[in-house]
Amino acid sequence: MNRDLLMSDAAYFRISYEINPYMDKSCQPDVAAAVAEHTAISAAHRAAGRRVRRMESAPECPDMVYTANAAFVSDQRAVLGDPPAARLEEIPYFRSWLKENGFEVLDAPYSFSGQGDALACGRLLLAGYGRRTDQRMHGFLADLFGHEVVPLHTVSDQWYDVDLAVAVIDEDTLGYYPGALDDPSRGRLADLGLELIEVESAEAHAFALNLVSDGDTVTMTRGAPRFAATLRERGLTVVELNTSELRKGGGGVRCTALTLDNQTTSGSGR
Ligand code: ARG
Repeated sequence: MNRDLLMSDAAYFRISYEINPYMDKSCQPDVAAAVAEHTAISAAHRAAGRRVRRMESAPECPDMVYTANAAFVSDQRAVLGDPPAARLEEIPYFRSWLKENGFEVLDAPYSFSGQGDALACGRLLLAGYGRRTDQRMHGFLADLFGHEVVPLHTVSDQWYDVDLAVAVIDEDTLGYYPGALDDPSRGRLADLGLELIEVESAEAHAFALNLVSDGDTVTMTRGAPRFAATLRERGLTVVELNTSELRKGGGGVRCTALTLDNQTTSGSGR
């Protein structure tokens, strides 16, 4: 998992609007520093043996660096995101790229934050709703891909996408911040029978969970040393990177990479 990723670039990254609580137009990123962060993330994926495919960003799309919201992709099919109005101009670029690269492309019938609210874990789909994603997307995705959907609702807009609150480490292990999820959602996670690693508040707020793991190497933000140590104790290789500029847009490592190799048709059989 997570061995084939789509990234864009940070060339036009800026805060032109405020659609999440982290974005503040009076606090602009240093673009050169953001480009350097993004380049380092991409290099870390490659060093971990992952394929990184690259799509150029467009000048009118300041959030295009966060490719995770473009779609959810599994089994060579992509369901495009249906983001807030401010980000709609990104979607035709992703539609073209995905089609040209051999994916079957479908539109989302309802609001949908793409992979930001749809984390695949084998046959499970950890799926956010009630903020950027309409809950009716869950049935749509389950019918299309055959996932067993685990609906997750966060307690505030701080966790506007579920990929800030929950992380897939491998098919048997999740990281999560209990304080970000409502009671029924926490219960649904507990009932899965997977191993759950709890992340503490300060580290969750530092976007510790916004990580990419292939089950061997975890690529994550610097600023969550306790969680990083826990992952190392479990035998994982952990690469911690600076994400302070990307954070100004409300995102981190996971947000900058759309996974292209999710599969429901093979794997552990869960
Ligand atoms: N500024 C972007 C937005 O609000 C950040 C998206 C981050 N992506 C994510 N998957 N959490 O849409």
